[in-house]
Amino acid sequence: MPKLGLGTWPMLGDECTDAVVQALELGYRHIDTAAGYNNEAAVGKALEQSRVAREQIHVTSKVWWDKLQPADMRASFEATLHALRSDYVDLFLIHWPGKDWDLAKTIETLVSFKEDGRARNIGVANFPLPLLKKVVEELNAPLAAIQVEYHVTLGQTALLDYARQHDMALTAYSPLVRNKVSHIAELQQIAAKHGVLPTQVALKWLLDQANVAAIPKAASQANQQNNLEALKVQLDDEDRALIAGLPKNQRLVNPDFAPQWDA
Ligand SMILES: NC(=O)c1ccc[n+]([C@@H]2O[C@H](COP(=O)([O-])OP(=O)(O)OC[C@H]3O[C@@H](n4cnc5c(N)ncnc54)[C@H](OP(=O)(O)O)[C@@H]3O)[C@@H](O)[C@H]2O)c1
Repeated sequence: MPKLGLGTWPMLGDECTDAVVQALELGYRHIDTAAGYNNEAAVGKALEQSRVAREQIHVTSKVWWDKLQPADMRASFEATLHALRSDYVDLFLIHWPGKDWDLAKTIETLVSFKEDGRARNIGVANFPLPLLKKVVEELNAPLAAIQVEYHVTLGQTALLDYARQHDMALTAYSPLVRNKVSHIAELQQIAAKHGVLPTQVALKWLLDQANVAAIPKAASQANQQNNLEALKVQLDDEDRALIAGLPKNQRLVNPDFAPQWDA
């Protein structure tokens, strides 16, 4: 999975198609979508329109948390493939833990998508560590990735350690804290030192970490290009020490169906 991807929420319709086509043209090869974003068809249209071959692009999609009964999940997965105009998806995730669900049956269904080849890899998103451990160690699911909120002001040390021990990628969502990083004085200071942008500092800090990928959402060509160029930024120990000193408890995404994070 390329370490830098394009997030697509909350883009819809033509805006989403155009942004994905443009990103692929600029050099992105990793696109993040989900059934819950109502934009898989727009992404599918972009995959078809793009000059970049489908096999060269990593596409992640996800099943919403109220579709985790096996029959619902199969129907949702098939709708995802249909919308993406593809007979496979590179990575398929459970978007959030379910409520009153049969975890073993849900995971068995997820694993079946990998076994039949229609999901090249499988994973989960927004699972707290104890639930992730259960899926990996008790249910023996061959997970390749966990996607969670992770950025300069939200730590994920325990999940990241676990991901590394189990050879999983950790995909950082909201990596720019929805552009709030542009207003953090320490990031402005590091950015000024290197003649780059605070957003690029925030992204490179993530991308420099082993097993970490990041999926900033950007609609405009300028923002997409700037985010791509973050890969060229060189941070030093002094920069990393300054970022380490920022608060690490600033969670942004916490809907009412979220799990208990520290469970
Ligand atoms: N698994 C989950 O539960 C979950 C939850 C949330 C998000 N996600 C995924 O993660 C992706 C990214 O997260 P996010 O959208 O919450 O937050 P984000 O990527 O941190 O921030 C996106 C915002 O930052 C702006 N931006 C992007 N690049 C910029 C730049 N170089 N300079 C200034 N502003 C810039 C964008 O504006 P423009 O669009 O105008 O460029 C947009 O408003 C989502 O799109 C989605 O695919 C997953």
